[in-house]
Amino acid sequence: EEGATHIFVVLGASGDLAKKKIYPTLWSLYRDGLIPKKTIFVGYARSKLTVDDIRNKAEPYLKVKDEEKEQVNNFFKMNHYVSGSYDKPEDFQQLNEEISKFELANHCNRLFYLALPPNVFQSSTSNIKAHCMAKKGWTRTIIEKPFGRDAESSAELSNHLSSMFKEEELYRIDHYLGKEMVQNLMALRFGNRIFGPTWNREHISCVMVSFKEPFGTQGRGGYFDNFGIIRDVMQNHLLQMLSLVAMEKPVSTVAEDIRDEKVKVLRCMPEVKLEDTVLGQYVGDPNGEGEAKEGYLDDPTVPKGSKTATYALATCYVNNERWEGVPFFLRCGKALNERKAEVRIQYRDVPGDIFHGESKRNELVIRVQPGEAVYIKMMSKTPGMSFDIEETELDLTYGSRYKGRKEKEDEWKKNNISFYPSQEGVSGKKIIGPSGKVWEKAKKRVRGTA
Ligand code: BG6
Repeated sequence: EEGATHIFVVLGASGDLAKKKIYPTLWSLYRDGLIPKKTIFVGYARSKLTVDDIRNKAEPYLKVKDEEKEQVNNFFKMNHYVSGSYDKPEDFQQLNEEISKFELANHCNRLFYLALPPNVFQSSTSNIKAHCMAKKGWTRTIIEKPFGRDAESSAELSNHLSSMFKEEELYRIDHYLGKEMVQNLMALRFGNRIFGPTWNREHISCVMVSFKEPFGTQGRGGYFDNFGIIRDVMQNHLLQMLSLVAMEKPVSTVAEDIRDEKVKVLRCMPEVKLEDTVLGQYVGDPNGEGEAKEGYLDDPTVPKGSKTATYALATCYVNNERWEGVPFFLRCGKALNERKAEVRIQYRDVPGDIFHGESKRNELVIRVQPGEAVYIKMMSKTPGMSFDIEETELDLTYGSRYKGRKEKEDEWKKNNISFYPSQEGVSGKKIIGPSGKVWEKAKKRVRGTA
């Protein structure tokens, strides 16, 4: 037993984010073999807890199949727990000691995930820097929004973090960038010839980026009320999607190159004016069922009389050569009629109409959730004797197009066949191409065509 090669520390291990997202994600990465084998997980929070307590909290959110019961036990055997505060140096010294015990290998990296409220970002990162940096490998600190609540506090946090860590030691998370369809925006735009030439103000009339959730704050009111929907999802998730839609083609797919293009988009955007926005707060529906009866102000964790917006629509512009005059509508809200996140590109009317005004505008819709899909709303002749035209869809719905794919991947995994070309060489697995054909010469190749 030479000890761990990676230690993953979850700060805020007893909290909402940790139980709903971080532990379930760590478990599924572990299950799928995407985490180095000798990784140890250490939970850290103020309450005196045990690994079993952490497990009990997280278990309802883990997706465990019957045949994975033993694996999930093994996962929790790799877990440990240390209690301590977020501002006391001696507690972080203690954490460091505990971590060091697992680090028998001569090389060991440390990752610190801050699943913490923003008011302890500064103290906990200062303590990591002072007491917990890896001595036998690299250190990574991972932080989630909110990164401040306005330009000033955001700059203050950035300055603090950059005085603590080198940029490559710091990861700022926007979990929307991990979504399949958000990642697909680049592939659609730059991997196809058909969209590029019309992707501009000559052809596109407006872009709508929306986010809707069918539930309210559900006890998260304490956090939410301080920030509101604009800081919670618009300035991060929606703006990320907007910049992927609006940006120019990056020099490469390397993160820094994409970031550079996004920054240019943001710099071309004038400030949003109040008259270009709609704000709202959800109220209870007396005729609704269960939770629908409750308004935002009925949530006991929301301060009385709060004016915090739970709904916002903002009309934004990107005043560059490609987009000037094209409105980008960002729209988001909690406790609405449905769960949906999508990007909708609406084209202009066809000039020189010969169909007596029957033509409707084309729309390219990229549905992020639920049920990932890309579809184009377009006009087509009504089949049969009629000469009418009607609106129809060119439809790439993942659920049907890629049906059974997950099962296939699981089966390949069992047989030690990797679907992903980029894993080749790391594990020396056989490679299978998207068509299912084994890539004979994949050994030396990271990407290519079979
Ligand atoms: C989070 C917000 O960043 O995103 C939450 O803080 C929101 O308020 C969540 O519910 C939505 O994420 P998803 O992945 O469920 O769409």
